[in-house]
Amino acid sequence: MTLEMFNKETTLAMRKTLIGQSCRLFYSEDPVKIVRARGQYLYDENGTRYLDCISNVQHVGHCHPAVTKAAASQMELLNTNSRFLHDNIVHYADRLRATLPDKLCVFYFVNSGSEANDLALRLAHQYSLHEDVIVLDHAYHGHLTSLIDISPYKFRKLGGQKEWVHVAPLPDTYRGLYREDHSDPAQAYADTVKDLIEEVHKKGRKISAFFAESLPSVGGQIILPSGYCQKVAEYVHSAGGVFVADEVQAGFGRVGSHFWGFQLQGEDFCPDIVTMGKPMGNGHPLACVATTQEIAAAFTANGVEYFNTFGGNPVSCAIGLAVLDVIEKENLQGNASKVGEHLRDLLWGLKAKLPIIGDVRGVGLFVGMELVTDREKRTPATEEAAQLARRLKVEKIFCSRCRACNRENRAHSHRYVHRQTKDKRRHLRLLLPKAT
Ligand SMILES: Cc1ncc(COP(=O)(O)O)c(C=O)c1O
Repeated sequence: MTLEMFNKETTLAMRKTLIGQSCRLFYSEDPVKIVRARGQYLYDENGTRYLDCISNVQHVGHCHPAVTKAAASQMELLNTNSRFLHDNIVHYADRLRATLPDKLCVFYFVNSGSEANDLALRLAHQYSLHEDVIVLDHAYHGHLTSLIDISPYKFRKLGGQKEWVHVAPLPDTYRGLYREDHSDPAQAYADTVKDLIEEVHKKGRKISAFFAESLPSVGGQIILPSGYCQKVAEYVHSAGGVFVADEVQAGFGRVGSHFWGFQLQGEDFCPDIVTMGKPMGNGHPLACVATTQEIAAAFTANGVEYFNTFGGNPVSCAIGLAVLDVIEKENLQGNASKVGEHLRDLLWGLKAKLPIIGDVRGVGLFVGMELVTDREKRTPATEEAAQLARRLKVEKIFCSRCRACNRENRAHSHRYVHRQTKDKRRHLRLLLPKAT
């Protein structure tokens, strides 16, 4: 198979004219053309090999033979939509069910994390009959209009905050409101959600859902304080809302010790809705929403059919099944624990020597490192982080920087801290949408 139709310059020139420029390239100042991949490696048009620490999708390795074989075999046989009876969809749902707590036993298959989150919003609205949503600061939940509305990471640069969206502080114990020296950060951060709910009620509004990544990724690879989700779920349930865990980044064994990120909170916590995507199909567009019988029943009760042309088709489900098989057979959860621990050990070693490293944190292969220009003040070393990413590229390693640490957002979070020290109430008001 020929690897290139055009030389790199032509591809770039065509991309500039034909593809919307808001679809940004990695390393846009010096883009890379990738023509093939295998395992953890990507290869450019000259055969140069790069270690891929940037793609958060090819979970079992690029072009895993078991996955490509499952896809090709099913494609040769049948691919159609999910309104015919077929074994793959039920077999796959059953396999997913075995990874989740018993309560999460009804599945909807879709094609992207955004579709999954949009459907989760609909399920929550339909079940609670309320409208308002609480999200964590800096969150990103997808590119659909409904999800830009609940993604502070995006809406702050666009039209602003909708009146039905409420932003709770990110439970970041490194640079957030309550830090590692706080005696009970889980309770303190959960209380901010409780206070927010009270503020919402005072306005005569009602909570439909609390929406959060089990490990906030765009927000800076955050590990939620243990017990936070249980407490938040209690407050959200008392308000008649549901807890949605976005596992689009964290799911499928990436955290090593558990299959799902939310399980890090302990066995006594179970979300009402879990959304999943990215690694599910190892590059094939495959995503899903898992929920409870009660929520699914409320969604059915409106009498409107939910139909998704491609969601849950036999090829997608065959691929999803192959991914689950590989995770199991190759003990990739064990691998995530082992390799992640090794990586963190190396980074901690560097931290001891290099003052620019302010923090190293993570679980399994969900790992982040904070670069700071001043350890005391925890000032983000934004330029240096960009330089490091460029330097790693020279070393043939692709890795990503978290945008939540850019200057604009930093100014924003400093403002929180400043106000918080003066008056917690004012801080919460700052996060609420402006009264209209
Ligand atoms: C946490 C999270 N949720 C949802 C999405 C949206 O997924 P998709 O790009 O597949 O629509 C993303 C994508 O980056 C994500 O990181």
